[in-house]
Amino acid sequence: MNVLVTAGPTREAIDPVRFVSNRSSGKMGTAIAQAARAAGHTVRLITGPVALPPPADVSLVRVTSAADMLAAVEKNLAWCDWLIMAAAVADWRPRHPASHKLKKADGPPCIEWEPAPDILATIAPRKKPGQLFCGFAAETRPLVREAMRKLRDKNLDLLALNDVSQHDRGFEADTNALTFFDAAGQRQPLPLAPKSVCAAQLIARMEKLHAKKI
Ligand code: CTP
Repeated sequence: MNVLVTAGPTREAIDPVRFVSNRSSGKMGTAIAQAARAAGHTVRLITGPVALPPPADVSLVRVTSAADMLAAVEKNLAWCDWLIMAAAVADWRPRHPASHKLKKADGPPCIEWEPAPDILATIAPRKKPGQLFCGFAAETRPLVREAMRKLRDKNLDLLALNDVSQHDRGFEADTNALTFFDAAGQRQPLPLAPKSVCAAQLIARMEKLHAKKI
């Protein structure tokens, strides 16, 4: 399969030296790219700014903002059989990033925000028959209803609910505890495990969904 994976945070500029971002380290998405490659798939990884070594034998596209990531996903959409959106994409961005550095003497800036593009929601209507889309739901309260809403609204085949409220899972940690939800209404909680193990389980789950579809 041709597998497109996104990883890491995005950065949204305030001015040429400042940005807003989030705590995503890119570890989960990078582990998924590695697991997909180890399972014999051809992998392209689109990553926001992360401090990780690039995975071996995976083609890498580095991006900064949500708009860059959307453009990179759109460019690779026709190529991929599976899209796995593990990136923590910004929901909002400054409407008018300053072209010069904001000066302290001018006082705290009043920043006007606008929605950043929702990548999955934008491309959901373009999913072709046979393609599989997987998303993540980062939640501080693991709400099943919220996971099901994202699965439906973003036209996903698989959603990984990711509890990001504890230190041993989610953002920055080396371990994770995912719960899978699929479009048929099946729910599968996985135990806390290294992200490499969670990633291999996610790829195995995509392979099962693919086998069911053909
Ligand atoms: N996502 C996306 N574009 C965005 C925000 C999120 O494509 N601008 C994707 C993420 O990569 C993830 C899924 O949508 O696969 C859900 O992301 P999440 O942050 O959990 O949900 P949101 O839709 O942003 O809603 P909220 O932040 O209110 O929970």
